Amino acid sequence: MNRFIKAAALVPLLAASPVLQAADAGKALVDRNCMSCHGDAVYTRENRRITTLEALKKQVTRCELSLGLKWFEDDINAVTSYLNKNYYHFE
Ligand code: HEC
Repeated sequence: MNRFIKAAALVPLLAASPVLQAADAGKALVDRNCMSCHGDAVYTRENRRITTLEALKKQVTRCELSLGLKWFEDDINAVTSYLNKNYYHFE
């Protein structure tokens, strides 16, 4: 009985975790690496330069390269989608 209750309680956690991890990975990368030159105000300023999702990904790549971070495609995608979801809201 006890064991059954524990297993049942774990199911929703396991189902939700990949989504949570993806969102948190992007945020964690930005918080750790991207605050030295600009904070998050550049993402929401009135005359921001980025106007498409594609341009956002390019800019993430450009800034990441200038830091010499050697991110994988997965990291760039996680950061792009984190910024899009929280600041840019492109389709
Ligand atoms: C070496 C300094 C530096 C670091 C570190 C840096 N950036 Fe940037 N970033 C810039 C500069 C410079 C601009 C252009 C600002 C402007 O046009 O006024 C910019 C602009 C941006 C923009 C576009 C803002 C807009 O106008 O819409 C995004 C998105 C961005 N950076 C993402 C990142 C991410 C993600 C990281 C972490 C990987 C990062 N930046 C780290 C220098 C940096």
